Amino acid sequence: MSIRHARPGDHAAIAEVNALAFGGADEVRLIERLRADGDVLFELVAVEDDRVIGHILFSRLYADRSELFAALAPLAVRPGQQRGGTGSALVRAALEQAREFGAHGVLVLGHPAYYPRFGFAAETAAQVASPYRGNPAFMALALEKDAFGAPLTVAYPDAFSG
Ligand SMILES: CC(C)(COP(=O)(O)OP(=O)(O)OC[C@H]1O[C@@H](n2cnc3c(N)ncnc32)[C@H](O)[C@@H]1OP(=O)(O)O)[C@@H](O)C(=O)NCCC(=O)NCCS
Repeated sequence: MSIRHARPGDHAAIAEVNALAFGGADEVRLIERLRADGDVLFELVAVEDDRVIGHILFSRLYADRSELFAALAPLAVRPGQQRGGTGSALVRAALEQAREFGAHGVLVLGHPAYYPRFGFAAETAAQVASPYRGNPAFMALALEKDAFGAPLTVAYPDAFSG
């Protein structure tokens, strides 16, 4: 399995992986809207035998500071290929990429049992004013020291509100 940046030719396979993993089209619509609005920071795919088996997307957040903050969503691994480390490899590679892009911090609304292993914590997100504040699934990871040390307000791209 290898991880690389997604290309336009991967879009159909990315849609298929997300639809199968989530059992519906909501995430596919989210991805397409984020692309159309220019809110995607980057997308990575996990490829095995020339087949896309996983996908992760980072989008930009609109913060009340000039520093870059990113949102992780969605993350999907093809059913049948799950629990083999692909999801973890995608998250780690994407966090490294976000660091290289200069992102100061990353926010996720995700499974509270899954994301803490990468360093995400709900306590870190507690200072962040957003529509998801107070939700235990709303977690943050600082890529730069003190990224969440002061109050921060973020607006999500419009794609997240439908
Ligand atoms: C969540 C997902 C991306 C994880 O990818 P993966 O390749 O299966 O994950 P990994 O093999 O790297 O890690 C497996 C670990 O994730 C845990 N895990 C998988 N799905 C989970 C879930 N929904 N909630 C909590 N933990 C989960 C497993 O228990 C396993 O933990 P362990 O290592 O302690 O046994 C994948 O299961 C998936 O696509 N699920 C459906 C879509 C989804 O829910 N996406 C996440 C949205 S936040």
